[in-house]
Amino acid sequence: MLKNKQNKKPTTLLCLVSTLVGFAFTIHLIMLYRRNYTVDNLEVSPELLPTHHPVVCELERVEEENIRMPPPRKRSPRAIKRKPKRPNTIVEEFLDENSQIRHLFFPDMKSSFGPSKDGGNDTMHQFFPGKIWLDTEGNPIQAHGGGILYDEMSKSYYWYGEYKDGVTYRSHKKGAARVDIIGVGCYSSKDLWTWKNEGVVLAAEETDETHDLHKSNVLERPKVIYNSATDKYVMWMHIDDANYTKASVGVAISDNPTGPFDYLYSKSPHGFDSRDMTIFKDDDNTAYLIYSSEENRVMHIGPLTEDYLNVKPVMKRIMVGQHREAPVVFKHQNVYYMITSGCTGWAPNEALAHAAESIMGPWETLGNPCVGGNKVFRSTTFFAQGTCVVALPGVHGGFIFMADRWNVADLRDSRYVWLPLIVGGPVDRPIEASFGFPMWSRVSVYWHRQWRLPSGGGKEIE
Ligand SMILES: *[C@@H]1O[C@H](CO)[C@@H](O)[C@H](O)[C@H]1NC(C)=O
Ligand SMILES: *[C@@H]1O[C@H](CO)[C@@H](O)[C@H](O)[C@H]1NC(C)=O
Repeated sequence: MLKNKQNKKPTTLLCLVSTLVGFAFTIHLIMLYRRNYTVDNLEVSPELLPTHHPVVCELERVEEENIRMPPPRKRSPRAIKRKPKRPNTIVEEFLDENSQIRHLFFPDMKSSFGPSKDGGNDTMHQFFPGKIWLDTEGNPIQAHGGGILYDEMSKSYYWYGEYKDGVTYRSHKKGAARVDIIGVGCYSSKDLWTWKNEGVVLAAEETDETHDLHKSNVLERPKVIYNSATDKYVMWMHIDDANYTKASVGVAISDNPTGPFDYLYSKSPHGFDSRDMTIFKDDDNTAYLIYSSEENRVMHIGPLTEDYLNVKPVMKRIMVGQHREAPVVFKHQNVYYMITSGCTGWAPNEALAHAAESIMGPWETLGNPCVGGNKVFRSTTFFAQGTCVVALPGVHGGFIFMADRWNVADLRDSRYVWLPLIVGGPVDRPIEASFGFPMWSRVSVYWHRQWRLPSGGGKEIE
């Protein structure tokens, strides 16, 4: 026994040493590979700015925010005695429609921006996250919970989203704040900043109460992809009743990006409930449905049929038990990334970034992608919830993170928070369930009060 034990020691040590050497060598190889990879990519696409370019560094500048809380409201000494009140948190102020600092989260029409507003000053092509964004006719853009399609044929971007220009109410005491379905709004643009209203491309049903799109129901998070085999534009969306018990996905189809879309049907994908969802079209034209299921406890993912009108009978359960919603998916250098939110209704919460080598998983959680602002900004996704990620024209590893700042008191006045998202650099905290070193690059969403596309808009760098 003793002999055995003594014999074991040098072997263990040797193992340890060789493991360490192997480990260091592997890291070295990976560094070499990464360096070469970056250089290769630069050679292949010289028009793309790398992440260390000054213009891109400007997007990665960390911008701090300091919100001054309003003085506590005056209350009578008797009221204070009856019920001593702790000071409000910033999130409570955000949710309070009578807050004295409401204008910080929901600036009024005077500070709105857009092509119709520009008087030759420097607001042209500047994004102002949280301010009212006007279309070419000077009206606030109505495309909430939206998604963007780049259409190769017309060389245009199309922004689809919930057209919510109606009254916010609750259908019963415990019901969620809602706006009757009006339809899916569509806007077109060449530069991602100047948006022309293309109208409601999928409209609510006014009379037939049994119809999915009857105005008393719920239509959320519409996303459109193009099917080159069938030459159709296919829209997927969350379809529900006012109590969110139907929990289905709906599908609509059109010959044109600007509609009109024909509504086909709704269904329970793979026989499961489906609430927040998105679709993702991969480079090989395979498309996937990603949806919060099992009462939002588990994310489900599965491929669509070739015509994109249905799901195939293949599904993987991911982020099991993590209670995530508002999924958005994008891809960079053959790695799939997802950003999700927590489940707190209309109230903002912390986003998480996830990564996977295969879209069907396994998915690993990287952490909160938000950078800048302050702690509260970062823990509330800048008081917003993700809805889509689009490529940032001209920047290698650059994207735009599109999010909604929901205004629960008046949903039509919900704001758009678009910010630069950069994939690059090492992750900043150990990855769960990982015994090795981080495989993934960091996903960072940088807060800015105002910013512009490095390209000044359009697909090409000037
Ligand atoms: C830019 O012009 C708009 C509209 O004319 C105006 O509201 C805004 O205050 C101006 N901004 C600056 C920074 O001058
Ligand atoms: C929603 O729930 C409320 C209260 O439980 C009920 O009165 C109402 O009929 C439900 N509405 C729908 C559309 O299911």
